[in-house]
Amino acid sequence: MKTRDATLEDVKQMSAFLKELTAAGKRSSPDDEAFVQRYYIEDPAKIRCTVAEEDGVVLGFQSLKRADTGNEWGVEPGWGIIGTHIRPSAARRGVGRALFAVSSAAAEKAGLAKIDATIAATNAEGLAYYEAMGLRTYRTPEGRICKSFDVAGPGK
Ligand SMILES: CC(C)(COP(=O)(O)OP(=O)(O)OC[C@H]1O[C@@H](n2cnc3c(N)ncnc32)[C@H](O)[C@@H]1OP(=O)(O)O)[C@@H](O)C(=O)NCCC(=O)NCCS
Repeated sequence: MKTRDATLEDVKQMSAFLKELTAAGKRSSPDDEAFVQRYYIEDPAKIRCTVAEEDGVVLGFQSLKRADTGNEWGVEPGWGIIGTHIRPSAARRGVGRALFAVSSAAAEKAGLAKIDATIAATNAEGLAYYEAMGLRTYRTPEGRICKSFDVAGPGK
């Protein structure tokens, strides 16, 4: 498995496994190719969108963006916003862990103090994953749990 920047050529595969996640009840946001291109590859707020790939198969991706003023997630402007999406057949193989190593390094390079992950309160695997990556709950809006990561280390 290798990690690299997501490109337009990855959009088809990214959308395909997002649709699998939708069908499995694990995603409620759009999953079509146009959305993937606009929201993950071409968003001006993007800091980095990283894919993990093995033999030409995209196993998953992680999006890291800078929170704008008035962002839809209510995240403190200037923080990072992270999202992780792993192909179901590649789950629990360390793909998410490998992607977080890349994204947290990119966050540090970009000078972010903190990263937010907003997870559905019912998404036990997403909550467990982010907890394992070192994120901790800091607010709980209706139906969601928001976890944050101190980029420079706990308490810094
Ligand atoms: C949640 C998700 C991102 C995890 O990615 P992954 O590549 O399977 O995670 P990894 O294999 O790197 O696991 C890293 C650690 O996270 C935790 N973890 C991951 N999946 C878990 C699960 N299903 N149950 C419990 N803990 C889990 C474990 O501590 C794991 O370490 P371990 O395997 O050594 O015990 C992935 O399953 C996914 O894309 N789910 C659907 C979309 C989603 O929920 N995204 C996150 C919220 S937006």
